[in-house]
Amino acid sequence: MEKKVYVGMSADLVHPGHLNILKEASKLGLVTVGLLTDEAIASYKRLPFLEYEQRRIVVENLKGVHEVIPQKQLDYRPNLNRLKPDFVVHGDDWKEGPQKQTRQQVIDTLSEWGGKLVEIPYTEGISSTKLNNAIKEVGTTPEIRLKRLKRLINSKRIVRIIESHSGLTGLIAEHANVEINGTKREFDGMWASSLTDSTVKGKPDIEAVDITARINNINDLVEVTTKPIIFDGDTGGKPEHLVFTVRTLERLGVSAIIIEDKVGLKKNSLFGTEVAQNQDSIEGFCSKIKTAKASQVTEDFMVIARIESLILNAGMANAVERAIAYINAGVDGIMIHSKEKTPDEILEFCSHFKNFDRKVPLVVVPSSYDTIYEDELADAGVNVVIYANQLLRSAYPAMMDTAKRILTHQRAYESRDNMMSIKEILHLIPGGK
Ligand code: SPV
Ligand code: MG
Repeated sequence: MEKKVYVGMSADLVHPGHLNILKEASKLGLVTVGLLTDEAIASYKRLPFLEYEQRRIVVENLKGVHEVIPQKQLDYRPNLNRLKPDFVVHGDDWKEGPQKQTRQQVIDTLSEWGGKLVEIPYTEGISSTKLNNAIKEVGTTPEIRLKRLKRLINSKRIVRIIESHSGLTGLIAEHANVEINGTKREFDGMWASSLTDSTVKGKPDIEAVDITARINNINDLVEVTTKPIIFDGDTGGKPEHLVFTVRTLERLGVSAIIIEDKVGLKKNSLFGTEVAQNQDSIEGFCSKIKTAKASQVTEDFMVIARIESLILNAGMANAVERAIAYINAGVDGIMIHSKEKTPDEILEFCSHFKNFDRKVPLVVVPSSYDTIYEDELADAGVNVVIYANQLLRSAYPAMMDTAKRILTHQRAYESRDNMMSIKEILHLIPGGK
């Protein structure tokens, strides 16, 4: 009987290295490819460019591949235990680094039935990481970017979004990453916040910065990033205008608009009841949701309804009633907001939300209740967490401190420690030389 060979791969950007591994594997027997699902890949690195089904079609048609099955986790063991292959074939580039532990698990598991790990020398000059970086430089298309938010929500336990109000902060959202226990962690997308879009222009967050100006900020973001964008649509404005806003956002490749159920002069939610703010009627807001949904031209654009009941002290029952009504009106997601210092009321809302018959993705913005961890939010059923203002809130005090030091000392030397060097800023953005 022919020997069984197992090869695990993501095969997002297929290159000669993959073909070499498959060629060597097929010399040993019948090759089954364990194709990592989007969920498996997203658990440790960036979501692949191609969806699972698209990657499956590619791999199924590669020479030497007998069968493709999903590998649902990074961990090979479930598939190995089912298949009991004689060989696992992998590139030899996982002996060190984050995949070291996975490799050892493969060796140990195979030894239970006398199977062997065969390692193929790494193909020089090519790697998925290099290709990924090259593609990032080439950019993305509005359509691919727009679809990406839904894909992320479907493949990740929790989607992590950070506020970006300029090209520079967009670059931070795009590139900031940390590696912890072999897992690369980064932001999944950007929040075009009304608060920071207004503040950076020196204006209050009262819809005084008009849609055209807000869209200019989005233009700056799409110029230099590839990740999805969620637009803070405030109240959505007049329904007749919202129609145009939705289409403009779609054309730019923005994935979602969040509109809040307030009417009249909008004030920032975190003022709570310190300022006069009025909530729309349920009927009024449902009609706005329907207008927004009817005006979108792409399938994947999301209209998310933001409930202000907890902000306005209208009570939990009101928040829950509204969530159900908005979902029934056809909204693609719910954002529940709170200005409390603890996450208690948000978690209470989540426990109600869990029992809904009809569910949509749930979004939260832990600005005031910032002690809660992403894991706890995910456990409560939250799908998207937005860090809505932290970059600008960090930048302003640092800039003010530098300004004051210069005034105090009448020279810039004393503010050196606050700053990146001239060399660093010159090289921060490539292509300047
Ligand atoms: C924003 O970032 O503009 C928001 C969230 O809408 S909040 O500031 O909390 O209202
Ligand atoms: Mg806002």
